[in-house]
Amino acid sequence: MADKIRVVVLYGGRSGEHEVSLKSAASVLRHLDRARFEVIPVSIDKTGRWQWNDLAAIDPAQPSLPILLDAPEMRLARGTDGRGVLMPVSAGAVGPIEIDVVFPVMHGPLCEDGTVQGLLELAEVAYVGSGVLASAISMDKDVAKRLAEFAGVPVAPYRVLTRKAFAADRPASLARAIEGLSLPVFVKPCNMGSSVGIHKVKTLDALGPALDDAFRYDLKVLVEQGIDAREIEVAVLEGETLFASVASELNPNAQHEFYSYEAKYLDPDGARVDLPARLDAAQMARVRALAVQVFAALECSGLARVDFFLDRQTGEFCFNEINTLPGFTSISMYPKMMEASGVPYRELLTRLVHLALDRHQQRHALDRGYSS
Ligand SMILES: Nc1ncnc2c1ncn2[C@@H]1O[C@H](COP(=O)(O)OP(=O)(O)O)[C@@H](O)[C@H]1O
Ligand SMILES: [Mg+2]
Repeated sequence: MADKIRVVVLYGGRSGEHEVSLKSAASVLRHLDRARFEVIPVSIDKTGRWQWNDLAAIDPAQPSLPILLDAPEMRLARGTDGRGVLMPVSAGAVGPIEIDVVFPVMHGPLCEDGTVQGLLELAEVAYVGSGVLASAISMDKDVAKRLAEFAGVPVAPYRVLTRKAFAADRPASLARAIEGLSLPVFVKPCNMGSSVGIHKVKTLDALGPALDDAFRYDLKVLVEQGIDAREIEVAVLEGETLFASVASELNPNAQHEFYSYEAKYLDPDGARVDLPARLDAAQMARVRALAVQVFAALECSGLARVDFFLDRQTGEFCFNEINTLPGFTSISMYPKMMEASGVPYRELLTRLVHLALDRHQQRHALDRGYSS
């Protein structure tokens, strides 16, 4: 037992994607290689409480992990030699547990946006995926697009509005919102996910209400040129060099105006997936190269799913968004694309854990101040 790497699978979290995380984590628990790893499930409930969960009591077949009211509450503390320690909040529950690596299997704000990553940095524990910087910029759809564009990757034209400016002068903000754009436009909160707060706006009258709704979720909102687009995704995995999977295509069912929350989670026939995407060889090579370019431009680590639009009119790809902790359920695109590219789920997880340990070791070995 002692020589196994102790992996905390951290799941749940305070975002709107809490339930997706419970499914992703159930799947990760099922696939992590128990011959190599000692696995400790730690849940975060919707109020932000961390709890230790008894692995033996978890049914490996269940599609979604439960949040248990009476599981012992824990907090993360800095350990020694680059290991973190899970400390029980009340004595007698579970002893302190030294940990080697944390695998955050959570999505969205306060999970995937650098906040949890910052906490893990302070505890000096290794963790899977991108660091604070890349997590934060990747969650911000505006900053991510700016950096992608700076690296030469096309993005759809868009405007940014702040809630403050919108409240101060609504008519001026509405005019600025569509300057240089044509209908339809997409209104989206800058830092959300799962299509929450996103509106396809087809008339000028609908713009104000769409912005009102989007500003419920964020202080910054994007108004983006609607594109007649095919939706193409690529999974990127770090290795000796960056590896891009074959691309897949999501075809939202025609009943849905776009790939909305309903199409993603409520309608079992919400979208059809083509894996590999029906692209010609040049298109496939182009989108894989663009995915690697975005991953590098945003300084990501470990893994990311990079989503593109293929404009039906121009035939050009443009970068839409990046997910640094993509869905990991058994039907999620990231593991499926990797599997289709020759990296089976179990091996993928093993590689991610080792990448986390390598990155941590390199950073831990850095000098922290001047030494002659
Ligand atoms: N500019 C756009 N043109 C056409 N469709 C869009 C555009 N922006 C978003 N969409 C549609 O909305 C969906 C969700 O938008 P996205 O930016 O991916 O946000 P989320 O992070 O919530 O997934 C996309 O998958 C697509 O169907
Ligand atoms: Mg999306």
